[in-house]
Amino acid sequence: MMHITPQAELSLYHTFSIKTNCDFLVEASSVEDLIEIYRNPEWKHLPKLPIGTGSNMLFTEYFAGVAVLNRLKGKRVTEDENFYFLEISSGEDWPKLVQWTVEKEMPGLENLALIPGCAGTAPIQNIGAYGVELKDVCDFVEYLDLQSFTLRRLASDQCNFGYRDSIFKQQLSGKALITKVGFKLPKTWSPKTGYGALQQLIEGEPTAQKIFDAVCQVRQSKLPDPRVMGNAGSFFKNPVISNAQFDELKLRYPSIVGYPAGDNIKIAAGWLIDNANLKGYTHGGARVHDQQALVIVNFNDATAQDVLSVAWHVKQTVWQKYQITLEHEVRFMGRTSETNLNAIFDGEAN
Ligand code: FAD
Ligand code: EPU
Repeated sequence: MMHITPQAELSLYHTFSIKTNCDFLVEASSVEDLIEIYRNPEWKHLPKLPIGTGSNMLFTEYFAGVAVLNRLKGKRVTEDENFYFLEISSGEDWPKLVQWTVEKEMPGLENLALIPGCAGTAPIQNIGAYGVELKDVCDFVEYLDLQSFTLRRLASDQCNFGYRDSIFKQQLSGKALITKVGFKLPKTWSPKTGYGALQQLIEGEPTAQKIFDAVCQVRQSKLPDPRVMGNAGSFFKNPVISNAQFDELKLRYPSIVGYPAGDNIKIAAGWLIDNANLKGYTHGGARVHDQQALVIVNFNDATAQDVLSVAWHVKQTVWQKYQITLEHEVRFMGRTSETNLNAIFDGEAN
């Protein structure tokens, strides 16, 4: 029997922990449950929103629809001479999965330690940290096609993975519910220790366990723990600008941080926000985090409006100071459909 809660309060189901409600909250533990929910004639006209752990979500108002908690569990491992193949049900917890692979000596996911969320959500924005992205380890993604109610499978190279992007945010947005993710981990492992200060934290020969520990240490030192202070990680994506614009900014701001990204430069949005003196900028119960300017925190019973006001102020200030447009990484759910900052403040599409 599926558990259904009418008029459910959502603060426990997203990491900003902002109080808001929805028409129905339902837990799905199998593909059959998902099909039943999406085909339920009583809910036919209601929007439906899959939720993993809500660590990349902001409910901007009451959600007049069905919030579908993904609780599909199961792990399967096979191997050949060269690889471990993992098949992970989409409701498995990502940080626990990473820890388990390190303990079982199947390395490859350790740089992605401690990223909150479900395994099945990880492909949607191609989660990334400390020099590795999901696309580097992904073999396939299986999803429920919400038109035909059949399961389909995309090989990793069909997922159009990009920086914080994939086919699931583009062509398949709202049309696919991810049910399983496959990983292919080479048995000849090569450590990735090139990001920032990671190398300095590792003594001697790197092992997956040492990298895992170092990544956990760095993350815990900068990123607020959502159980202590509500947040959804980086609020904005790091913007990509032209070399010419970067050179011009570098003259004005010699300490600006940028990395090559193809023919362009990816700028550290945290630096832009920090350099605009916005750390600690507060509106109601929300503010720009003191240790990491890219994170907006709910430090004291914030409303969605508080978070939106801080985000809009940051976006406006960064535009005025550097002529760079910030796009939010956090996904916004409005009353009946996904929305964004521009639509809310300007009435424009993002
Ligand atoms: P949710 O927030 O529940 O959902 C996100 C979106 O995906 C929503 O639009 C939802 O409707 C949709 N969705 C959820 N499940 C499914 C499904 N099965 N099928 C189809 N659509 C679905 N991200 C990084 O990339 N790198 C980081 O280093 C990182 N650090 C973070 C640190 C903190 C403290 C926090 C709070 C977040 C961080 N994030 C990071 C963001 C977040 O962890 C990832 O985006 C994660 O993949 C979200 O998983 P979730 O299950 O919580 O997704
Ligand atoms: N910086 C500042 N001030 C700040 C924050 C950052 O000057 O307040 C500078 C840092 O000194 C550093 C640079 O900006 O030189 C980059 O900072 P950091 O290494 O903390 O990474 P980031 O670019 O802010 C990105 C991801 C994170 C991911 C880390 C590590 C995005 C939007 N964010 O953050 O992902 O964990 O790199 O790889 O790409 C997330 O997506 O939610 C997330 C947390």
